[in-house]
Amino acid sequence: MNQLSPEEKNNLPRHVALIMDGNGRWAKSRRMPRLFGHRNGVENVRAVVNTAKEVGVPYITLYAFSTENQNRPSDEKSGLMKLLEEFLKKELSSMMEDGIRLRAIGDLSGLPDFAQKIVEDTIEQTQENENWNLTLALNYGSRQEVLKAVSKYAQNHPGSANVPTWEQFSPYLETAGLPDPDLIIRTSGEFRLSNFLLLQAAYAEIFVSPLHWPDFGRDAFLEALADYARRERRFGKTSEQIQPSVHIL
Ligand code: FPP
Repeated sequence: MNQLSPEEKNNLPRHVALIMDGNGRWAKSRRMPRLFGHRNGVENVRAVVNTAKEVGVPYITLYAFSTENQNRPSDEKSGLMKLLEEFLKKELSSMMEDGIRLRAIGDLSGLPDFAQKIVEDTIEQTQENENWNLTLALNYGSRQEVLKAVSKYAQNHPGSANVPTWEQFSPYLETAGLPDPDLIIRTSGEFRLSNFLLLQAAYAEIFVSPLHWPDFGRDAFLEALADYARRERRFGKTSEQIQPSVHIL
């Protein structure tokens, strides 16, 4: 797919979150080391972010490193952190030119100092940008995020037995200020959320691509957006409530 139709452009998600899976398998199939897959995965981050800007998806969130990824061999972890540093250094000028604001979710204190520093510096330098929003999930786990949010909420409401509303509770999550994801894309054919945005994904549409992440380029991303545009999101309501005119005829 090369282009979206005008109708598809009218039904784009506002926030797409991506689980970038399959870098290792992509590299293995080429008899190359896993880091070669991650390096090509980073190239693909550029392709997807550029496509989001091209068609007008203002929020992109990338699952770059999960709490469970901490269990990977140390050379793979340090390689990933170096790729992250290289990416942010290289992209800063275009982020400023294009008005991209960087955010991070996850426990940054669990990253090596140099990685934590470049992420924090880039967040600070881009904080006034408001055209596009790129969020990196780094050392992120949804359960850990929720447990921390519960603890902070309880600290701020000592002695209260009231059950909070979602509107009262959600600002305690690390995604405070971001809209919920409308579409979650996972590459490499696995049908799992893997501890990613579990509460925020309550009404997200899910798209699974058989392609490994380094192969999930512009065309595949457009396919996913077109597929999303054809779906009917009911948020628990009936089809008739969502589109009354269609059913009156
Ligand atoms: C999953 O592939 C991918 C990751 C664990 C890391 C994703 C990270 C990047 C693409 C690079 C860093 C990101 C940025 C934004 C600079 P896998 O290794 O689990 O693949 P496999 O399941 O085939 O082994």
